[in-house]
Amino acid sequence: MASLPQSRSTLSGRPNRDAPRQPAGPLFPAAMKLPPFFEEDRLAVDAALERLLPAETAQPSSIHTAMRYSVFAGGKRIRPILCLETSRIFASVVLPTLHPACAIELIHTYSLIHDDLPALDNDDLRRGKPTCHKKFGEAIAILAGDALLTLAFETIGATPAAAERRAAILSEVAAAAGTINGMVGGQVADIEAEGKPVDEQMLEYIHRSKTAALISASITAGALCAGAGPEDVARLRRFGGTIGWAFQVTDDILDVEESSAALGKTAGKDMAQQKATYPAVYGLERSHQIANRLATEAIAELAPYADRAMRLREIAEFLVLRRA
Ligand code: IPE
Ligand code: IPE
Ligand code: MG
Ligand code: MG
Ligand code: MG
Repeated sequence: MASLPQSRSTLSGRPNRDAPRQPAGPLFPAAMKLPPFFEEDRLAVDAALERLLPAETAQPSSIHTAMRYSVFAGGKRIRPILCLETSRIFASVVLPTLHPACAIELIHTYSLIHDDLPALDNDDLRRGKPTCHKKFGEAIAILAGDALLTLAFETIGATPAAAERRAAILSEVAAAAGTINGMVGGQVADIEAEGKPVDEQMLEYIHRSKTAALISASITAGALCAGAGPEDVARLRRFGGTIGWAFQVTDDILDVEESSAALGKTAGKDMAQQKATYPAVYGLERSHQIANRLATEAIAELAPYADRAMRLREIAEFLVLRRA
């Protein structure tokens, strides 16, 4: 596999000179009192993404500007944080894991850009800013999504790890982003379920595929990068699938309970678009119970790691307690 040019392949290298500075400050509501590692990981990931993305001045400048606009709009960086913290269960040095961690954030950002397009959820607000297509037009938004997906796989290909680990990460992430129980398949089912009655199985399938698959891959990619064996990867895949499912149930709850200002995206849209969500099918109270039960089940998978999984437990709790 071709490696990236030196200036972009080493994620610990120098930043692009023309890169815009990141706004400083915490992203989470102050009330959450998050442990400091959230912020430390986020800063490491943002610095790595900064070096990874082409400068705005690189030609064609319009697409690089759009890619940077959406990547640095202010996401929580949950997936890369999960990736890094899973690696830390198995290894003391996790620098190589910045590659899959950033790659998954790029895929996630692409999925948001496309999710917001008029043909999908038709949203104007994302991460507290106008959506990519509102700012740059639909053609550039579609192409920015395509480019982020492609850059993600180039980034995984450059992971400084043994070839078998790189290959395993590639397969894991590609499958999670794809059509068979993966993100694109889930997005198709989400769109096709609009305005129709859905049963329990279909609701689970949509949530697991469109959201939990990529969250689970963040976790298993972190494990694989740090050399975890098949039994650990299988256990962590169960953890990831269940906590990712709880994450989307919580996203559905927040769409009902929070404001657009708090979420940085349009609140109340799911009901308006007759989306297949947990609150729509079960009501809010039952949805909270389901999210909590799933989080408890997920956390139980971490028992064999005892204190080594303390941070993963804290992230899992945040994923269902968050208010944005
Ligand atoms: C939003 O994900 C889309 C879903 C899969 C529910 P996040 O809530 O992680 O969005 P950002 O990255 O913080 O913007
Ligand atoms: C999106 O689910 C999941 C993706 C794969 C992007 P939603 O449509 O509920 O995400 P938001 O609420 O727009 O962030
Ligand atoms: Mg959607
Ligand atoms: Mg949406
Ligand atoms: Mg949503």
